[in-house]
Amino acid sequence: MFIDPDQRDIFSGASTRRGGVDTKLTSCSELPSICRSLPSCHVHRQTEICRTFMIIGIVAVDRNGAIGKGGKLPWHYSADMKFFKATTTGHACVMGYRTWQTLKNPLPNRLNIVLSRSSEIEPQDSVILLRDVEAVLSLAKDLESNLFVIGGEQLYRSFLPYIEKWIVTEVPLTIEGADAFVPENYLEGFTKSDSKHIDEQLTVSFYDRTKAM
Ligand SMILES: NC(=O)c1ccc[n+]([C@@H]2O[C@H](COP(=O)([O-])OP(=O)(O)OC[C@H]3O[C@@H](n4cnc5c(N)ncnc54)[C@H](OP(=O)(O)O)[C@@H]3O)[C@@H](O)[C@H]2O)c1
Repeated sequence: MFIDPDQRDIFSGASTRRGGVDTKLTSCSELPSICRSLPSCHVHRQTEICRTFMIIGIVAVDRNGAIGKGGKLPWHYSADMKFFKATTTGHACVMGYRTWQTLKNPLPNRLNIVLSRSSEIEPQDSVILLRDVEAVLSLAKDLESNLFVIGGEQLYRSFLPYIEKWIVTEVPLTIEGADAFVPENYLEGFTKSDSKHIDEQLTVSFYDRTKAM
């Protein structure tokens, strides 16, 4: 991320929280990679104060970008389930109402944010129902955790402009009759930063946003 040294003053006095302790930001090198306030930041060009945590899309896709069929995940890989759990535990997860309906229970040890324009859900611990993307973004500003966008298709589309990192499990299948997909251009403006095998069949790749939409 490029930051014009002349703009660093904007951050004098700004603080972030690390381990629950307020910490002064003294130089741009200390900023998280999601600087939102520097007009000269070539990545974001936004005007809010810097936020410590990220909005991260996490998805498993087949060779053609399919993510679902008949309202369900068209595969079951326990390694991916474990990876998803380890990655998202302790954070907030936002999901569309249809994806919420596929869960038997709220995801444990995570804040479950369900997005729906009109559906209702029973009030329960660690579940919040919100009506639009703006409400989620507003809540995310006050979270002391990452916000994972966990699907499905409509949710990925709605949050695409705000996602700062993608974590993508590459599923070595071609699902016939799939009816839910990641947006075609979802990795546009992102650069692969890492990848790793989580079992003999599955690779997870990590992508960081390097260009604004
Ligand atoms: N492979 C993966 O990683 C993965 C991950 C998650 C899900 N999936 C799959 O994806 C499929 C579901 O995807 P989907 O697109 O059909 O459903 P979805 O995105 O899970 O949920 C859609 C619903 O969410 C609400 N919603 C969506 N965008 C909204 C917005 N901007 N504002 C307010 N509410 C909004 C609406 O609920 P209301 O109609 O109630 O208003 C909408 O009908 C399933 O097959 C599931 O298994 C795959």
